[in-house]
Amino acid sequence: MTALALVTGGSSGIGLAIAHRLAQRGHNLLLVGDREHELNPCAIDMERQHGITCHTLCIDLAATDAAQRAFDHCAAQGFEVDMLVNNAGMLLFSEAVLAPKARAAAILLLHVHTPTMLCRLFGEQMRANGRGHVLNVSSISAVMPYPGISLYGPTKTYMRYYTRALRNELKGHGVHVTCLLPGATETGLYDPKRVNIPLAKRLGVMHSPQFVAERAVNALLSDRAECIPGWVNRLTMMLLPAVPSWVIRFIHRSTGLTDTGQRALG
Ligand SMILES: NC(=O)c1ccc[n+]([C@@H]2O[C@H](COP(=O)([O-])OP(=O)(O)OC[C@H]3O[C@@H](n4cnc5c(N)ncnc54)[C@H](OP(=O)(O)O)[C@@H]3O)[C@@H](O)[C@H]2O)c1
Repeated sequence: MTALALVTGGSSGIGLAIAHRLAQRGHNLLLVGDREHELNPCAIDMERQHGITCHTLCIDLAATDAAQRAFDHCAAQGFEVDMLVNNAGMLLFSEAVLAPKARAAAILLLHVHTPTMLCRLFGEQMRANGRGHVLNVSSISAVMPYPGISLYGPTKTYMRYYTRALRNELKGHGVHVTCLLPGATETGLYDPKRVNIPLAKRLGVMHSPQFVAERAVNALLSDRAECIPGWVNRLTMMLLPAVPSWVIRFIHRSTGLTDTGQRALG
């Protein structure tokens, strides 16, 4: 069996940065994404830069059988996944009842169903082997049940609390489980023409994927329950639950920010 770290959404943004940090530490990788032309160059680059072996699996993680297919692929290839990073995600700006139905279903599958089933399948193996690491990517939006991100925020809330429960169940079985809750991160999510990225970074409200990945991997390897990179984000997460609903409705009405538009991360 070849031991490796499986990273979903490992060909861009935060997932790619996490994959680099793991490769730097000598982990072989399996990058999983839904675009072959993005995955393959990443794998070649990863092997060249870090001297590890990097495999790829092109699969739609928003399909109901995605986790089982990934698990069967690993079994067939003789891969032992001793590290699982559930990172793949999408952003959907839309009111819940106006969201395109296919996108609404996809975000639930991608953020809830597939990562839960990947934990179910690989977690059982890790538990039986008495070793393993799981890093689940949530978001500071976990405390933002807000209009316009009414599907995104609550799916990230699920991820946060599911990860906490999983951690407690696997404690004592040699499996370490950590939840990453990034704030704004400079990935394909942000259009540099519309967001002043240098200013956002100077103010500490936006970080690079490398900054987030370094803290995430350190948290995972030191068995921390949660990792919220950046003090502004930690403060934001403490303060936001105190904001009254009428303020949130007022902002929603007056900015019209969230219409029925939709966008994928990256
Ligand atoms: N950027 C932020 O500000 C921010 C803040 C908080 C949390 N997060 C979370 O961080 C995670 C990574 O996001 P990111 O910012 O790094 O964005 P990103 O660069 O767009 O990465 C998203 C990744 O998910 C993969 N993915 C999306 N849909 C998929 C599908 N149906 N099947 C397979 N793979 C799929 C993409 O793969 P392909 O390229 O192959 O499509 C891509 O590699 C997400 O879970 C996101 O919610 C991001």
